[in-house]
Amino acid sequence: MNRLHISNIGRIGGITSEGVRMRNEVHISEWSTIEDAWIQVEGQYVVEWGSMAEEPILPPNTEIWDAHGAWVIPAFVDPHTHLVHSGTREQEWTARLKGATYQEIAASGGGIMQSVRNVRAADVSSLLDESRIRLETIRSMGVGSLEIKSGYGLDFDTESKMMRVTQALAAEYPEMNILSTCLALHATPPEYAGDADAYVKRVTQEWIPIWVGEGLIDFVDIFCEQGYFGLDHLDMLLDCANRLGLGVRVHVNQFSVMGAVKRAVDGGALSVDHLEEFEGPDLEALKKGATFPVLLPGCSFFLGIPYAPGRLLADAGLPVVVGSDYNPGSSPGLNPFLTLSLSCLKLGLMPEEALNAMTLNAAASLNISDRTGSVGIGKEASMLFISGLREWSTLPYHFGQVPPMRVMLKGRFI
Ligand code: NIG
Ligand code: FE
Repeated sequence: MNRLHISNIGRIGGITSEGVRMRNEVHISEWSTIEDAWIQVEGQYVVEWGSMAEEPILPPNTEIWDAHGAWVIPAFVDPHTHLVHSGTREQEWTARLKGATYQEIAASGGGIMQSVRNVRAADVSSLLDESRIRLETIRSMGVGSLEIKSGYGLDFDTESKMMRVTQALAAEYPEMNILSTCLALHATPPEYAGDADAYVKRVTQEWIPIWVGEGLIDFVDIFCEQGYFGLDHLDMLLDCANRLGLGVRVHVNQFSVMGAVKRAVDGGALSVDHLEEFEGPDLEALKKGATFPVLLPGCSFFLGIPYAPGRLLADAGLPVVVGSDYNPGSSPGLNPFLTLSLSCLKLGLMPEEALNAMTLNAAASLNISDRTGSVGIGKEASMLFISGLREWSTLPYHFGQVPPMRVMLKGRFI
């Protein structure tokens, strides 16, 4: 197999030695770096690196690429997206600009239900075409791995259709790691109006086992919120997931606190996502368990709701993760560098902590940090070669900008 030797790298950040699977095993603020480096890639993997002061003599025929002083970070890992959807919801946003709230729009039949109507009406190929454009956008901005949720179908066929689109994207873009989360429990569909219990039973006892059998699901999720699903429903999903060996991610504490963080942690959930509303018992539960807190500052920014307490969680030694929550209703922006800036400006993370939260810790929350999320020997060669950096803080400092860079995913420049 051909080796690619990359020389003249200004600095490599996000390095891990063997065995480090999330930054809090060291400390979230530790962002290991080496300066004036070379790195070698063989096939999909990083195989060696070292200092330019001791550049090896290369066998003839080695392919060489001069990075001209570019700095390297791991490709981003986005652990929470609703990337597959049909159509957009600008009218709701302009209604919010005039004073309506997200909850009022949902109560009048818009919000998630608007996207459900759109996705039900879309055929597979148009859903795939729309989603592919977003995937290529996020990839061009340096995201190498991402999770994609269903949840705009809420019936068996449409949820299947969404997850098949995710599966098709994963097959079309093997240089990325694409993981599928079943969020059939995003809202109660009109067919089950007034009987959420029956819907949750149907999803957990009948549909999820079928989708698992078809290889469509990596994780399951539920929207725990007033007017959506409650603690008993969360328990039903946790039971189902434990039976089937699935990781659970939970939308929780977005608008209200109802004790679902503790319930999720006690039930062994892999992640609790959102946490814009947060109380003391939530922190105590997280400190005792092994569940990742996933913070979504884009959603707070776009909805004008509080930001999750990132600083508090990092100071408590928790493995803070940050994701985009990309979706057409509450976070319709794909730019990971803006998310990075918001993580510093609004969640209170330092640049190195935010970078860790969006790479290694995000990968750990998806159970893929043994292969991606950091620059390590034997890990996937998914890295961003960025020009013009003076400090790591240069990245979040230029908020809303994608820096000049080249994106390598699994050993190949895209
Ligand atoms: O994570 N909170 C629920 N789900 C999404 C929003 C979905 C939508 O508005 O379409 C979220 O913010
Ligand atoms: Fe979400």
